[in-house]
Amino acid sequence: MVEDALTQSTFPPTEDFAAQANAQADLYSQASEDRLEFWAEQARRLDWDTPFTETLDWSGAPVARWFADGTLNACDNAVDRHVREGRGDRVAFHFEGEPGDTRTVTYADMQREVSKAANGLESLGITKGDRVAIYLPQIPEAVVAMLACARVGAVHSVVFGGFSAESLRQRIDDARAKLVITADGGNRRGAHLALKPLVDAALAPSDANPTPAGSVEHVLTVKRTGQDTAWEEGRDVWWHDVVDPASEQHQPVMVEAEHPLFILYTSGTTGKPKGLFHTTGGYLTGASYSHRVVFDIKPETDVYWCSADVGWITGHSYIVYGPMINGATQVLYEGVPNAPHEGRWWEIIEKYKVTIFYTAPTAIRTFMKWGEAIPAKFDLSSLRLLGSVGEPINPAAWLWYRRVIGSDRCPIVDTWWQTETGSIMMSPLPGVTETKPGSTQVPLPGVSIEVVDDEGQPVGVEEGGYLVASEPWPSMLRGIWGDPERYQETYWDRFPGKYFAGDGAKRDADGDIWLLGRVDDVMNVSGHRLSTTEIENALVSHPWVAEAAVVGAADETTGQAVVAFVVVKSDGAGAVASGHEVAVALREQVRKEIGALAKPRTILVVSEVPKTRSGKIMRRLLRDVAEHRHVGDVTTLADSSVMDAISQGLESGK
Ligand code: PRX
Repeated sequence: MVEDALTQSTFPPTEDFAAQANAQADLYSQASEDRLEFWAEQARRLDWDTPFTETLDWSGAPVARWFADGTLNACDNAVDRHVREGRGDRVAFHFEGEPGDTRTVTYADMQREVSKAANGLESLGITKGDRVAIYLPQIPEAVVAMLACARVGAVHSVVFGGFSAESLRQRIDDARAKLVITADGGNRRGAHLALKPLVDAALAPSDANPTPAGSVEHVLTVKRTGQDTAWEEGRDVWWHDVVDPASEQHQPVMVEAEHPLFILYTSGTTGKPKGLFHTTGGYLTGASYSHRVVFDIKPETDVYWCSADVGWITGHSYIVYGPMINGATQVLYEGVPNAPHEGRWWEIIEKYKVTIFYTAPTAIRTFMKWGEAIPAKFDLSSLRLLGSVGEPINPAAWLWYRRVIGSDRCPIVDTWWQTETGSIMMSPLPGVTETKPGSTQVPLPGVSIEVVDDEGQPVGVEEGGYLVASEPWPSMLRGIWGDPERYQETYWDRFPGKYFAGDGAKRDADGDIWLLGRVDDVMNVSGHRLSTTEIENALVSHPWVAEAAVVGAADETTGQAVVAFVVVKSDGAGAVASGHEVAVALREQVRKEIGALAKPRTILVVSEVPKTRSGKIMRRLLRDVAEHRHVGDVTTLADSSVMDAISQGLESGK
């Protein structure tokens, strides 16, 4: 492929871009001269009700307190401030529904909407510190709901619409959410995807949860698709009955900087998702600062589009909080890239004259597969900057993105970060850094990143190691909801004093960093984090399954794909079913337990799962099988003939 031949190239910034860039090279020296003062300066760009006097209190490490004696409100900063300062007429969102319906929402409209929603929430008894679960499609109400929670000091917990009723229930229970905000449904590939019935199922007693979800008092439902919806009087209320008639006046509730802003659940190495939580002042500082310097946002002229869903951290930081605090004009799109045709995204870029576009490598690889003739049909000349996030971007995809979408003109920022980090930690700075396909290159000014070996010592050139953050940063997570020990163990015990990210990385001769994927039992499928254990648990909860082992195998489009090896109970109905029938039943099982996003690509029925003598599943061997590699050393296996049997089963396509 033409792109492969070019992987060694680097791309210096053009003079024009560099001259107008928000970030200049001296940002690095400013940050290293006085790191804390640098962060305090970034934080002072927010509107504080009580200005802070202390920057960082690390005495309770690993729980940081940033700007702790200041008070502010996230929604006030993202919305009201712009109206106050004369920017109310600026478009906040060009919303594009999948069926083609559109809405233009200005910052002044937003202020009215969030005020009404905040009054609506208060009328339902929601006050400071309460948790609210949000399970909505990608529509303006999702943004309004999040900001309305922030406005009253409530803590939102957004659950991506692709998660199942079971997953939703787990998250509602863990946070003890008092309210669920949902919609009748959303639009997906021309069909109506129901959401409210999943909320009903989540709240009702089930085999796994024999009692109703006791914490939830109300379900606030947006009418999006108009599909028939079951209704529980007293509990269920319509958004248009509660929010629409409410007053447009609402005073934001000022909170301490360390007041929790949101919880977001993410997969860890055990079966139970972690409720990571972020607080207000530090998180908003990180999200808005990084958005300004990495995306070079010029709010008066740019049209910015981040294609993520608000259900993920990327949507929280780079649709809701970062861009809105910076007063950006954005595109918000409800649907999928190929409805009604494979050029839909490029059509949207042409229509709204998008200047800055942020997406994931898995999407780029999908577009490569569909062919460059599709984007070529649209005018993409408005674009001036491209971003990538979620997984390593292979140089071929990077170069394709630059050439086909960016006309060899737009700088690309490959941004490394995590739900835990809250905002971008590593990325080239457009206009400053000479970019290098496939590498996330350098930490942002103010951020300290190292690659270390098993002993915590920096690795040499081209040597693989573990990625750690060696200093606290404002938007770092403050913990795992209700589980401080797990927070300490997961992130801080491995290398004392340093944050362990769970990613492998190396440095090249120029000192640039390359990500090498996860070093734990977390998979990255289409930029979504999935836990092998969680999927194994879902599989073994099916009556046919005796045992299951799940691995992430390399996949050309999705980065990794879920491959499951299952042992079927000999005395159950599964024993007489065909491999195909088992696969169909178990895919459905995973969809029901976790959500469609976790469905295994491949399910193999095997007679045994390889284990060490101490009983630990040998995932490395299974990954080798799944990726059709030669199976290496199996001497630590309890029964090494197991691997032969599995490999033979795979060859014969069983
Ligand atoms: O493995 C890294 C990968 O995604 C993980 C974080 O996933 P999540 O918390 O869901 O957040 C995704 C969006 C920020 C990381 O541990 N990852 C994220 N960005 C990159 C990446 N891997 C390589 N390059 C990136 N740019």
